[in-house]
Amino acid sequence: MTVLRAPASSGAAREAAQESVRNAALRAEAIAGLTAREKSLAPKWLYDERGSALFERITGLPEYYPTRTETAILRRHAAQLGSLVPPGGALVELGSGASVKTRILLDAGAHFGAYVPIDISPEFLTRTAEDLRRRYRDLPIIPLTGDFSRPLNLPGAALDLPKIGFFPGSTIGNLDPAAARALLERVRGWPGTEGFILGVDLVKDPEELVAAYDDAQGVTAAFISNILVRLNREAGANFDPDAFAYEALWNADLARIDMRLVSTRKQVVYLSGTRIDFAADEPIHVSASRKYTGDSLAALATASGWRVAQSFADEGNRFLVACLVPGRPSSGTES
Ligand code: SAH
Ligand code: AVI
Repeated sequence: MTVLRAPASSGAAREAAQESVRNAALRAEAIAGLTAREKSLAPKWLYDERGSALFERITGLPEYYPTRTETAILRRHAAQLGSLVPPGGALVELGSGASVKTRILLDAGAHFGAYVPIDISPEFLTRTAEDLRRRYRDLPIIPLTGDFSRPLNLPGAALDLPKIGFFPGSTIGNLDPAAARALLERVRGWPGTEGFILGVDLVKDPEELVAAYDDAQGVTAAFISNILVRLNREAGANFDPDAFAYEALWNADLARIDMRLVSTRKQVVYLSGTRIDFAADEPIHVSASRKYTGDSLAALATASGWRVAQSFADEGNRFLVACLVPGRPSSGTES
């Protein structure tokens, strides 16, 4: 029998190679996180195809105010925000997802030279880029699959363009403070970066916050538990997702919502041959969503070489869209 194999350079072979690298990284990070004294998984692994679709459902939930609140702010200030991108310049978006909010800026900025959506979820990114190409026929759309928690190689076609970063959704809140600062420093160092439009969720009544992360329909619970399904499929694990209960807690000291999966009983799980023991009620920390104040955001900006030039909040002060411009590099010694 003749077996026909795709040449190594073909798209299918490249995708298979990328998938196998991704699965190896998922396996290694999951084993490290689940064998630590306090068990954890990184939220970036929530976004497989099902996870991305579940997140899209979350954005429409009555309890999940961030998406509609930020969208209203972007609509209200679209012309001003769009004008931050210089003529012929690129809008570079981190964690672009379905790029729904982006369209508000793209509609306001016919002068853009390129749009570069960056996301860790390749399936979602490819589909979104195709959709955007149909909607904005004259705009070069240059998608990049990548992990923004590490240094990124920006696509060559966008490298030399003046650019504005865009990081909506309060996704920065899913990074711990050191990682958030490092990311802002890296964006500051991209060639031609002139500014950064950043969405952050604001500290508010804990009841409203917990409801947003523990909705009545259980969509958030399904989104967070899906990480165990992914580990079973892609990392050789044998989790019983029904043996873990979802909980969302407000941590006032760290100004963050903690999303955890709690083992409902004493149990043993194997992940690619590695034994993981769970005590009854032992949690896996899956995601944190940090909430900011004007002051804590200004401190983060300053610490990473930026300055908040302007910011826009909604009337209820739930959410903030900030325009950052390059500031002085902080030496830590200047008065
Ligand atoms: N910007 C959209 C989507 C937010 S959801 C909005 O505001 O609604 C978060 C997005 O970030 C998802 O699409 C997810 O796949 C992506 N993401 C999460 N962690 C990432 C990482 N480390 N690197 C790149 N993309 C990431
Ligand atoms: C993508 N990110 C900003 C969401 C958030 O609000 O922290 C992820 C999320 N997790 C549960 N619900 C929403």
